[in-house]
Amino acid sequence: MSASLFSSAPLNPGYGFSLFPALFLFTVFLCVPHLAYSACGKPPIIFNFGDSNSDTGGIVAGLGIPVRLPNGRTFFGRSTGRLCDGRLVIDFLCQSLNTSLLNPYLESLGSSFSNGANFAIAGSATLPKRVPFALNIQVMQFMHFKDRSAELAATGANHLIGYDRFGDALYMIDIGQNDLADSFAKGLSYVQVVKKIPSVLAEIKNAVKNIYERGGRKFWVHNTGPLGCLPQKLALAKNISHDLDSFGCISSYNDVAKLFNEGLRQISVELRSEMEDATIVYVDMYTIKLDLIANSTKYGFSSPLMACCGSGGPPYNYERGISCGFPGYQVCDQSSQSVSWDGVHYTQAANALIASKILSTDYSTPPVMFDFFCQ
Ligand SMILES: *[C@@H]1O[C@H](CO)[C@@H](O)[C@H](O)[C@H]1NC(C)=O
Ligand SMILES: *[C@@H]1O[C@H](CO)[C@@H](O)[C@H](O)[C@H]1NC(C)=O
Ligand SMILES: *[C@@H]1O[C@H](CO)[C@@H](O)[C@H](O)[C@H]1NC(C)=O
Repeated sequence: MSASLFSSAPLNPGYGFSLFPALFLFTVFLCVPHLAYSACGKPPIIFNFGDSNSDTGGIVAGLGIPVRLPNGRTFFGRSTGRLCDGRLVIDFLCQSLNTSLLNPYLESLGSSFSNGANFAIAGSATLPKRVPFALNIQVMQFMHFKDRSAELAATGANHLIGYDRFGDALYMIDIGQNDLADSFAKGLSYVQVVKKIPSVLAEIKNAVKNIYERGGRKFWVHNTGPLGCLPQKLALAKNISHDLDSFGCISSYNDVAKLFNEGLRQISVELRSEMEDATIVYVDMYTIKLDLIANSTKYGFSSPLMACCGSGGPPYNYERGISCGFPGYQVCDQSSQSVSWDGVHYTQAANALIASKILSTDYSTPPVMFDFFCQ
């Protein structure tokens, strides 16, 4: 299992790790021996809610929006609907438990949901509510999934998640980035975007409570990454020359992300006291991702603010309308050396490193192991 966690693609003949990143990844692996095998006592069940950061194909299944190669080129050798050259963070987390990669809830052909379901859809936000596929819609889909599982089980269907297993499933949430990004994209000022944060946080809190009321007890909440370091934002945001920090990221965007995260951390504290028999793990993705960008050379990456797949060349390789997979795009040879895949999403190589940091528990509050829920 550990070998496959960090293996390069057997399917893509044009792809190869250079010696340095290969050695580097090997070193990472040695530092985190608990990746080596599944430590689950019972079969792990995971339900995931979110946006493109954890969408394993829902956008294609649910909306028919094509995600084309070179997405998927590094690991799957075909497009799976993931906005990445290979695996996402959630894929590595699943692999660390030796469980199958999560199927999108809306993928009706060839899917198995015996280890959970992925409700995340690219582009999703918490607000506005009641539109596909806002967080509250994803949670309602989960409720339907649970009710339907019970109905079918009563008729003798198998390969379903038993009613008693929803309590020890893990409920993962990674959302909020689009709420913040969409607000900036609409031209709202820093102050206006900050004012929107409490209503976004209220939606996330509500989602956790609704899942709790349906029996969920184990939650894993990712905070949001440094929005102002995404090549897309750097390329498209206007008048940012006075607003760049020492890493070259947009300060106001990152400040909003940090305020959001502080609020999310606070909500996790509130939820822990309101739901005493629940475990809510808050994971600091921001610190993990900023470290990757700020110290990119140390980790074997270069040009952390430049998309591997995009158009326009340096400094960001991102242009509106010619994004990755669309006519006119250009793609780097070695995505193993890039942090950013397409200007918004991270490469598989970055995701592997991010996942290994998550699994270290150093960024988690409380610092429990990722496999705590399946003991
Ligand atoms: C991982 O899962 C596979 C297939 O389900 C199984 O054959 C293998 O023994 C498992 N490995 C570990 C270390 O649990
Ligand atoms: C650009 O940003 C600077 C500094 O934040 C500000 O003083 C200036 O008014 C802005 N210009 C435009 C055209 O928005
Ligand atoms: C970069 O790495 C150093 C040394 O590990 C660390 O102290 C620092 O916090 C990192 N920078 C960021 C922005 O994470």
